[in-house]
Amino acid sequence: MDSIIVRGNGPLSGQIPIAGAKNACLTLMPATLLSEDPLTLTNAPRLSDIKTMTELLGSLGAEVSSLQDGKVLAMSSHDLDNHVADYDIVRKMRASNLVLGPMLARLGQAVVSLPGGCAIGARPMDLHIHGLEALGAEIELKDGYLHAKAPSGGLKGAEITLAFASVGATENILMAATLAKGTTVLHNAAREPEIVDLAKCLRAMGAQIEGDGTSRIEIQGVDRLHGATHEVVTDRIELGTYMLAPAICGGEVECLGGRIELVGSFCEKLDEAGISIEETARGLKVSRKNGRVKAVDVTTEPFPGFPTDLQAQMMALMCTAEGTSVLEEKIFENRFMHAPELTRMGANIEVHGGTATVHGVERLKGAPVMATDLRASVSLILAAMAAEGETIVNRVYHLDRGYERVEEKLGALGAHIERVKA
Ligand code: EPZ
Repeated sequence: MDSIIVRGNGPLSGQIPIAGAKNACLTLMPATLLSEDPLTLTNAPRLSDIKTMTELLGSLGAEVSSLQDGKVLAMSSHDLDNHVADYDIVRKMRASNLVLGPMLARLGQAVVSLPGGCAIGARPMDLHIHGLEALGAEIELKDGYLHAKAPSGGLKGAEITLAFASVGATENILMAATLAKGTTVLHNAAREPEIVDLAKCLRAMGAQIEGDGTSRIEIQGVDRLHGATHEVVTDRIELGTYMLAPAICGGEVECLGGRIELVGSFCEKLDEAGISIEETARGLKVSRKNGRVKAVDVTTEPFPGFPTDLQAQMMALMCTAEGTSVLEEKIFENRFMHAPELTRMGANIEVHGGTATVHGVERLKGAPVMATDLRASVSLILAAMAAEGETIVNRVYHLDRGYERVEEKLGALGAHIERVKA
């Protein structure tokens, strides 16, 4: 397993390109299952999760060609010959469950392994099942697999209310409803930019969808969808992550492709902490001129609230802030595994259930630390970039799932960061 060695250094400067969104691409790729015609994605990120989704779609009979160094995915599911999403692939990546809705809609049946728990929580699928059953599917759990069948006449539109604005459940139901007979109204739908991007792509394929980005999405089912070419939206989590690099290390960095509307509530918190953010023609320029960052309180919420996927990275900033910060994690039940690793670097953090209280210290000290999940990994890298001395981050395969060429991108800003091959 590769490690990454980081040596703390001074202010950063330069530009960092922000890639296409992992969490948009992972729902856009299964959308190819909805049509016999080709679907091409541009601005795709080069990540191991994309490779995993490629493997999964291939196992179902779809073809995915990765072109232009992985930035273009040319996909075709004209000849699907398997409707079973195997545990060996699904256990590697929860987003594999996003083939359930499209397969049900296209093939009338699907067998998808339950993803199993992951580091950050149990992550059940009850909301996905509730929504798809409302569309007429019969879903049974057997030997760890969901066995789903659509009625002989196909899925039928329905009025559905989600108990929680689940991103994945919204995506599965939205994709299935595009081919259901009649009208589907989804209440308490997730509002994330990745949902809007999926709806935009589905409309390009001929779907009739309104209200994406709000809590109420209305879909008029159609008989079939045709092919399209779609540009993946900018990754707001990679954007927020890299905006924190100059905030933690000092200096000035321009995040190319960044847009305020993707990270609204996050920017409000950075502004409160004393970080300056300027919109430029090419993206967002972030700088921390002088003085320490101020401690701010954060509560994670569904979009447009503060993103749970930026909570670990924000904690890294708060470790050396002036004052005490209270971070409340309301989306996942176990998403503070970065805290003990940051503590090894000298941070002063108390965790009680879903609340972490961070008492800012002057400076962290480098140490060997362990990456536990995708966002925790990158929070350790950010903390290490401003720490005194050397930090070795182990198990960085987590990092490669969501951050393309992280050492190149941060190294170009002046960070002392190198990958050590296992
Ligand atoms: C998506 O996961 C993202 N993943 C996650 O990003 C992100 O943290 C999450 O949304 C919240 O924004 C992708 O898009 C591939 P949810 P998802 O369904 O869809 C509970 C990253 O780091 N829940 O909104 O799985 C669930 O347990 C990843 O890039 C149910 O109880 O998230 C969790 O506590 C991590 N029953 C909460 O809802 C269900 O049926 C949010 O889950 C579904 C979810």
